[in-house]
Parts: sequence; structure tokens; C-alpha cells
Amino acid sequence: SSRRILIKGGTVVNAHHQEVADVYIDDGIIADVKPNIKVGDEVAVIDATGKFVMPGGIDPHTHLEMEFMGTDSTETIDDFFSGQAAALAGGTTMHIDFVMPVNGSLSLGFKAYVEKAKKSCMDYGFHMTITKWDDTVAREMEIMVKEKGINSFKFFLAYKGIVMINDELLLEGLKKCKSLGALAMVHAENGDAVFEGQKRMIELGITGPEGHALSRPPLLEAEATARAIRLAGFINTPLYIVHVMSIDAMEEIAKARKLGQRVVGEPVVSGLVLNDSGLWDPDFNIAAKFVMSPPIRAPGHGRALQAAVSMGVLQLVGTDHCTFNSTQKAFGIDDFRKIPNGVNGIEERMHLVWDTMVASGKISVTDYVRITSTECARIFNIYPKKGAILPGSDADIIILNPNSSFQISSNSHHSRSDTNVYEGWIGKGKVEITIVGGRIVWENNELKVNLGSGKYIKMPPFNYLFDGIEKADVSYISSLRAPVNRFKAMQ
Ligand code: URP
Ligand code: ZN
Ligand code: ZN
Ligand code: ZN
Repeated sequence: SSRRILIKGGTVVNAHHQEVADVYIDDGIIADVKPNIKVGDEVAVIDATGKFVMPGGIDPHTHLEMEFMGTDSTETIDDFFSGQAAALAGGTTMHIDFVMPVNGSLSLGFKAYVEKAKKSCMDYGFHMTITKWDDTVAREMEIMVKEKGINSFKFFLAYKGIVMINDELLLEGLKKCKSLGALAMVHAENGDAVFEGQKRMIELGITGPEGHALSRPPLLEAEATARAIRLAGFINTPLYIVHVMSIDAMEEIAKARKLGQRVVGEPVVSGLVLNDSGLWDPDFNIAAKFVMSPPIRAPGHGRALQAAVSMGVLQLVGTDHCTFNSTQKAFGIDDFRKIPNGVNGIEERMHLVWDTMVASGKISVTDYVRITSTECARIFNIYPKKGAILPGSDADIIILNPNSSFQISSNSHHSRSDTNVYEGWIGKGKVEITIVGGRIVWENNELKVNLGSGKYIKMPPFNYLFDGIEKADVSYISSLRAPVNRFKAMQ
């Protein structure tokens, strides 16, 4: 049974090029992209005149149905169905979630996530989180890469006593990633210093959400970012810094890239468009919404991070969607250390990046596609199946009307959470239609999603990392390629 759709007359945008053209979809795949495609009466036609036809967003950083920070806070409130439904309503058609090991076991963790993801209504991939280190973990990493389709591993330099690892273990992890052709990712904050900062706040009697930001300032993010970059440079393997939240951390990435090191920086939408003033709100429920790690920073950081994105210093935008409802956040009413960390964003990212960066004239529409979709597909080695509107690519497509507007509220969002950190935001540009796997799932503000229709996307390793960049495949991802090639000198 073939499902055919023709999208007519829109401006088709890829990261490399935009033009007015038609897009013909046949059975979940993009069959043709060119002006004036003629089709028969049986084909459904969408008129996209005056609108942008773009690859659906790919969110590189989400935490659906995750147990985190102990039993206090239970699980994140969005599962693979509600989180993905929300994503689709906001123009994101794929995400990469972080598998948490179960009792330290990667394979048990993987199994558990395969089970959780059976509810999926869009395609997804997995990163694996490493929370401890021993021979079993090292062996299991190999299985994950060679058999399970995982090509990235995240290490925590924060959350002391929960998931934090020390430098010795990080070095082991980096070596292992290099040998497997996998990408190492880090949560970069100095967990020992954060622990000290938290103690200091409690001693001073600062127990409210503002203590969260005060206990873990930008310099602790910069220290861990610089340390991870140097250790990755020492091992000579690429590094991906998740949720870059401060100017201080961004400058470490800029410096390393300028010197030729392969470092990717991922800001998240909360860090680009919010500031820390909410953490000082006298209403605990409002202030607690803003608690995430690294913290949302003082005014000025967001603007600088946006500038870094526009100049290519930072390469792609994620969300770190990690949503708790207000009763879960209230576990920390007497002590900010117990507030579960995380904010929403999977539904809001595409609109907020459009509004604050494209509608405001900071970046082009092609750059928008690059930072919200294409770059993620390239980095995780699934381009051009994902992240492009090209013949043969998956038909994951959004149609955005630049003259329409969007409005964010917990009353109308599709997340299961009862709060939204972007509450009340009104902005320009609206995703009017979302097509995923060749089906229209979002139209006229209505969702029509199919439980269980999403597929697991395996992400292949980068075997050429063994040999170094000179012998690399020509398709070697742009953001890992350094502006100045010092690779040889480092051997
Ligand atoms: O506060 C955050 N970021 N929660 C999600 C887990 C993580 O550190 O990415
Ligand atoms: Zn073209
Ligand atoms: Zn993190
Ligand atoms: Zn995260």
C-alpha cells in the first residue's frame, strides 16, 4: 500500500541550499524534489505556497521516561509516546534519548529502553550513559557499538555520588570510545566543586531554587569543559559537550576548535532564550521550573550563545527535555538540592529557535535547518537518511508559515507536565504541518499519531577514527573536522 503526498509550491530548504520546488512523497520516502511535479488525482496535494518546507527537527538530547536523582523524584513525566507526540506538534520528527544503565549494566539498560520505546510514534536513536567503569562496562560498550546501533557515550563530570566519574575513568572511557569509533559526550560541571558550593549555600541558609544557580556558577562549567577538552585532546579523540550553558564554557570550545581540536558544542534552547531571573521568583513553583543543570545563566549568556551558534562556534541546538511536574519539583521545597533537575523543550525548540534567531534576522533559514536537523544527522552518522529533503531521504518534513504565530502554555502543550518553563511566550513562525514517515500527523492544530509506528534508527560507528582525519571518508562530518588540521602534529 503506497501513501503518496505532493507538497506544492513551497520554499524547500536544506542546510546547503533553498529553492521553490515541489516534494513528492511515496510510501514514507521522498521520491522527488523539483519544480512543477505532475501527479495523478489519487495523490494528496498540500499547497505550501509562501511557506517553508524543511526537514523535521532532530533533537539530539532528550530524557523520556528516565529515572533520575534517586527515588525521591521518580521518573520524568513524558514517556516515549507523550514526549514524541509533543515533539511532532512542535515540528520535531526524531530525537536521540539517553539510555540509563540498569544496576550498572548497559545491556539491561538497553533492553529496558527498547521496551519503553515500543510506544513510539516517531523515529528515535539512543546514546548510552556511562555511570561507572569496569571491564564489564568496557565489554558492553563494544556490544552496544557493534550490535545495538549506539555510536555515542555520555560521561558525567557532575552529580557527585550519583553518576559522576573521575578523570581516571573518563580517560578509560575516551580511549574506549576512540577504539570503537564512537563519540564521547560529557556533562561538563565540576561535581566536587558543585558539592562544595551546595554545602556553602545551605550553611548560609539559602535553601530556595536560587541556591541552585549560586552553588554551581559558570566557572565550574568552564573548568570541567576545559578539562574534558584537554583530556580528549590528550587521547586524541573527538568530544561532544552537551548542554553548553555559559559564555565561559563556550569560550573553551571556541579556543579548542580554533587550535584544531575536534570538539562539538551543543547549546540547548533553554540556555539560548531564558535567563536565571525565574530562579529568584518568590513563588517556589515558578522558580523550581527553571532548575536544570548546568543552570540557566544570568542575562547575557543566552545572547552570546546565540551568537556562537550563528558563527558556527557551537554546531547544533538540543533541548535536554527532562520534564517533571510541579509535585515532583516540590520534593525540593525545603532544599534546592532535592529539586529534580530538568526543563521541557522538545515541543518548543523549533518554534523558539525560529522566533529568536530566524525571525530576528540572526541566522538564515538554511542555517536554521542545519542547527535544528542536518548537523545532528551528520554528527550521529545518519545523514542523509535523516536531516535532508533529498530523493531517498525519509519523509520527515515540516511546513512552517513565517507569517503565522505560536503561543506557549501548559494549558495547550502536549507534554504531560503541568508546567512549562516557556509559559506565555508568543512568537513568530508556526509549524502548521508535520509529516513523519510519510504520514501527516499534525495539521490544523490537531495531532493524529500512531502508537508504535516509530522505528529505532541504528547509528553506525566512525571506523576511520582509528586512522585519523587524513584517511577519513569524504563524507566525514563537518563539525568534527577542525578548521585548522593539527591532527598530524599531535601524533
Ligand atoms: O538538569 C538536567 N540537565 N537534567 C537532565 C540530565 C542531564 O544532566 O542532562
Ligand atoms: Zn536544489
Ligand atoms: Zn547533563
Ligand atoms: Zn540531559
